[in-house]
Amino acid sequence: MTEKTILRALKGEVLPTPPVWLMRQAGRYLPEYRATRAQAGDFLSLCYTPDLAAEVTLQPIRRFGFDAAILFADILLLPQALGADLWFETGEGPRMSTTTDMAGVNALKGKDDIHDKLAPVYETCKILSRELPKETTFIGFAGMPWTVATYMIAGRGSKDQAAAHKLKDTDRAAFVALLDKVTDATIEYLSKQVEAGCEVVKLFDSWAGSLKGQDFEDFAVEPAKRITAELKARFPGLPVIAFPREAGDGYIGFAQKTGADCVAIDNSVSPEWAAANVQKDGCVQGNLNPAHMITGGEGLVKATKEVVAAFKNGPHIFNLGHGITPEADPENVTLLMETIRNG
Ligand code: CP3
Repeated sequence: MTEKTILRALKGEVLPTPPVWLMRQAGRYLPEYRATRAQAGDFLSLCYTPDLAAEVTLQPIRRFGFDAAILFADILLLPQALGADLWFETGEGPRMSTTTDMAGVNALKGKDDIHDKLAPVYETCKILSRELPKETTFIGFAGMPWTVATYMIAGRGSKDQAAAHKLKDTDRAAFVALLDKVTDATIEYLSKQVEAGCEVVKLFDSWAGSLKGQDFEDFAVEPAKRITAELKARFPGLPVIAFPREAGDGYIGFAQKTGADCVAIDNSVSPEWAAANVQKDGCVQGNLNPAHMITGGEGLVKATKEVVAAFKNGPHIFNLGHGITPEADPENVTLLMETIRNG
């Protein structure tokens, strides 16, 4: 059997057609997702019901034939397993109880006490490793400590991550203890996903872009390096995709510094820039503007061809620069797939 295309790209192979999957490919833009979510009752129940979480993971594979499936879960399930309260406000997004000092950090559970709560996620992995088509790569994931901590500190999403920056600058010891705790727990969480069948892990650092200078090195690069090294020690050869979103110049050298096999690129930088500065060192993933999944048409075809052409001389996994949005039209995803695969 020939090896799966995503795994080949992650080893540095240049393929005639890039393999493709989309961030948030299971989601509200799909009517079948909305139906299964309604069956589950709400988003968190969907995440914690293995049969249904596996079903929504499979839906976009059946419809579009993507080369990879990503586990259906959320980066905020880990802080919940550490003891934070988590809920989703309809139309607004996640809300959490806040962790803002050393006492709060000490009150969180330890890294080995998270698995009871997360057991349904591991069960979802087991179902998927049996049920995915043999050519489809199965990707597990976690949020990176900085991004996860921004939600734990503020109790919600925020544009500039002000509360997390404030804790970092006013109570360094508590901030560092929180990131260390999340880092340790992330290693255990991802290890269980791999033991349950995930073949690749992706590290989402959605808010890495607000870390500047030495902070970027200490709180984006270092945790990614630690998590990658420990996972590769436990699972030799395990491929790791790192996504320090909006890192800008921070993308340069990120793979070498962290040991990641692939750097995922957002669409605030051009594919030509990313090819010259990041892909020169190894596999990249990205980076079509997700807005094309709403607007479609000739603009989508042209921009897709530009991304494919820019990265064609090196290892590349086609993806969007960020998640597909609820307003996307599934027909445009079909057009995207035809454009990538039929030229
Ligand atoms: O990509 C996938 O298809 C896999 C599943 C996945 C989800 N979230 C499902 C989800 C993954 C990999 C994530 C990661 C995630 N979650 C990130 C990092 C990536 C990124 O987008 O930057 C972040 C920051 C979160 C936290 C989160 N979860 C937010 C801020 C929100 C609300 C925003 C929104 O889109 O509603 C969520 C909810 C969420 N996570 C949904 C899905 C499908 C929508 C929930 C619903 O069905 O109502």
